[in-house]
Amino acid sequence: MTKPRWLLAELTYRCPLQCPYCSNPLDYAAHSQELSTEEWKRVFSEARAMGAVQLGLSGGEPLIRQDLAELVAHARGLGYYTNLISSGYGLTEEKIASLKAAGLDHIQISIQSPDKTLNDFLAGTESYEHKKEVAHLIKKHGYPMVLCVVIHRQNIHQMREILDMAVELGADYLELANCQYYGWALLNRDQLLPTREQFAEAEAIAQEYKAKLAGKMKIYYVVPDYYEDRPKACMNGWGTTFLTIAPDGAALPCHEARVLPGLECPNVRDFSVKEIWEDSPAFNRFRGFDWMEEPCRSCPEKAKDFGGCRCQAYLMTGDATATDPVCGLSPKRKVVDEAIAAAYAAQPQEKPLVFRNSRTSKQHGGPR
Ligand code: SF4
Ligand code: FES
Repeated sequence: MTKPRWLLAELTYRCPLQCPYCSNPLDYAAHSQELSTEEWKRVFSEARAMGAVQLGLSGGEPLIRQDLAELVAHARGLGYYTNLISSGYGLTEEKIASLKAAGLDHIQISIQSPDKTLNDFLAGTESYEHKKEVAHLIKKHGYPMVLCVVIHRQNIHQMREILDMAVELGADYLELANCQYYGWALLNRDQLLPTREQFAEAEAIAQEYKAKLAGKMKIYYVVPDYYEDRPKACMNGWGTTFLTIAPDGAALPCHEARVLPGLECPNVRDFSVKEIWEDSPAFNRFRGFDWMEEPCRSCPEKAKDFGGCRCQAYLMTGDATATDPVCGLSPKRKVVDEAIAAAYAAQPQEKPLVFRNSRTSKQHGGPR
């Protein structure tokens, strides 16, 4: 059995922004019992002892946790490479300095759009100017500028401006992350999924800048899987590499695993990380290949893509053991094509974006 390498600590589901493509669970408001500082430290220590080397500190907005610098210092002391994954909103020069002193290795921030009005609309909060300022402060304190922009139908037409903004901010790394349709993004998919033509145009622009900026800025273009005919190797295979701990201590083989019915996600308040990783039914549920059905079971590609994403399979077909329907060999590929057709046909006024906040979480989270 492989060991966890990447620990994603979702420190809190609280967030001052309300992005309609958030990957947090729709019912996040129901999971409000956050782990304490001491509980997080124990999780970091146990996962490190198991072999984890990379620690992502995310949320929600991790900056909300008042103990963030203390947690970073503990993680750094254990030898983790620590990565803060933040919206940037709420980051001040003082906070950057204290995180640096605590040993934080890396900061990634996100901007919704190069246009102030659209940025603030998508974030649900006036945040554009502040985020730009934060980007400069991050560089000033000697960190590489790592910028993430989630790409979807509302901003894909701004691809050139997004890239120009990254240049202006002095980004060293730019992640153009095509929206993945889980959680809030799935709820809003009809208004977020771009057309095939929009993708093609945006990708061509990204490639043009990639060539132009080679050696100056690294650009990662995360491909949209609905328009592929083979699925992504989600999580590098279930229970092989990634361990996510949700704010309330639920241990998840992927950040979406809470949606899978019948999957009892163990809690770090009840079990050690070792017990969870090695023995829990949740982490063993889709390990290896024995759980697979046809066509994956006899497919030579299974060692490459592990049959795709379990959460996407469940969310789109109702069956978590099905072949990811993105795959052209899946008998259910038509559900992806139907989703694309629905997005083409969708009119914004018929189905306005649902923004992520505790009110809409209670409304759309459904029974637990
Ligand atoms: Fe991958 Fe399954 Fe499709 Fe084969 S059938 S390519 S294993 S998803
Ligand atoms: Fe859960 Fe892909 S997001 S397996």
